[in-house]
Amino acid sequence: MTQPSRPQDGRAALASFVTNRLGRTNARPASTEIKAPPANESAQDFEKLTGYRELRLQRSAADLIGLGNPFFRVHETRAGANTRIEGQTYSNYSSYDYLGLNGHPAVSGAARKAIEAFGTSASASRIVAGERPGHLKLERALAAHYRTDACVVLVSGHATNVTAIGAILEAPDVIFHDALIHNSVVTGAQLSGAQRRSFAHNDPAALEKLLEATRHEHRRALIVIEGLYSMDGDAPDLAAFVELKRRYDCWLMVDDAHGLGVLGRTGAGLHEHCGVEAGDVDIWMGTLSKTLSSCGGYICGPSALIEYLKCTAGGFVYSVGMSPPLAAAAEAALTVMQAEPERVERLRRNGNQFLALAKKHGLNTGSSLGLAVIPIIVGDSLKAVTLSDRLFKRGINVQPIIHPAVPERSSRLRFFMTSEHTPEQIAQTVATVAEELSALETGATLIEQLMARRGA
Ligand SMILES: Cc1ncc(COP(=O)(O)O)c(C=O)c1O
Repeated sequence: MTQPSRPQDGRAALASFVTNRLGRTNARPASTEIKAPPANESAQDFEKLTGYRELRLQRSAADLIGLGNPFFRVHETRAGANTRIEGQTYSNYSSYDYLGLNGHPAVSGAARKAIEAFGTSASASRIVAGERPGHLKLERALAAHYRTDACVVLVSGHATNVTAIGAILEAPDVIFHDALIHNSVVTGAQLSGAQRRSFAHNDPAALEKLLEATRHEHRRALIVIEGLYSMDGDAPDLAAFVELKRRYDCWLMVDDAHGLGVLGRTGAGLHEHCGVEAGDVDIWMGTLSKTLSSCGGYICGPSALIEYLKCTAGGFVYSVGMSPPLAAAAEAALTVMQAEPERVERLRRNGNQFLALAKKHGLNTGSSLGLAVIPIIVGDSLKAVTLSDRLFKRGINVQPIIHPAVPERSSRLRFFMTSEHTPEQIAQTVATVAEELSALETGATLIEQLMARRGA
């Protein structure tokens, strides 16, 4: 096993380890030259994959300073406001179950009924294997929610963005997206071959400058923003983006993955939060994996768009139809969400309480609105991973988010709130975070600990 020879090597290796585990992109590291292997060696060895040896080295560095691996933990129960891992109970802030609908009797009951009637699989693409009533019911319910003509659901939220954007745009076109947009949007843009231009986060003025300078160079243009941003927990000024898309003749797409069930008085989404008509947005995208406690993604929009995607988008045409119990669960969850706005209100109260207490303790919560997503920004990857590790030892499960998922200096812990957290639990969590962060900042530095362990 290779060990780092200097503390700063250990630190760099560890920072790079956590970076790798959370934020790997498809991009090859810039410094890696692709060389032919020596004549007596084969390149067909998985251990020689770019970054693999580095990954092992980084894991060794983490082991060296006694940090557990915060990723891929096995939960032994339904992970909501609480969870159980290796027999221990934890306060849990790592699930997207914003309204506590995962395991709700109506949601699980709908899934069970669908299994009894249709089994667990749609078996093939819907073009080939045909529809199940649950697909159509879910699509009708989502289209009604956004007041659009139609909707199509796909088996993955990520694949929904990739395939839809890949199918809508072509090389003469352009996509303008928020700098913090989800990876699936960027990947879809790359697939499409369209030009990709990003503008500063939540900054319509920056977008306007870009539009002014470049819109005329392209045929079609798509602007993509999110509802509630998944790293920062803030939201855009939708009206400003609607105004720009009209003025510069663009389509506007909102990825409301984290907005549905969260934003607006009834959790309808970004349009309700901003007091804008849903119909002012051309394409509503979302995922079924968050509030709707299922799995998959959706596009809601004009019938021509939906018909086009159903007949041409690779991720729909060449991929299996949604599993019947997952479609039924999502539809039931949407019904409960709409019937019980008190869940949305509870989530808001919990998020607001967390945010207010965090601010009182002097924690940096960035631009979070205090709803479903609240970051505690600590400033570097190693600190974020160590804080997460210390909190885990004190019964709190929360994930570190580090470079390149976010810039290194804004490495953070990201807390997902649910309507089911209790006020006592939240107060205790924030107090523990403040205590551990303060201990981390005033105690022996991590480098000193590393040196002490190595007898340096
Ligand atoms: C904004 C956004 N869009 C799309 C996705 C992909 O959704 P899924 O995880 O359901 O595939 C995510 C995932 O977290 C997301 O945060």
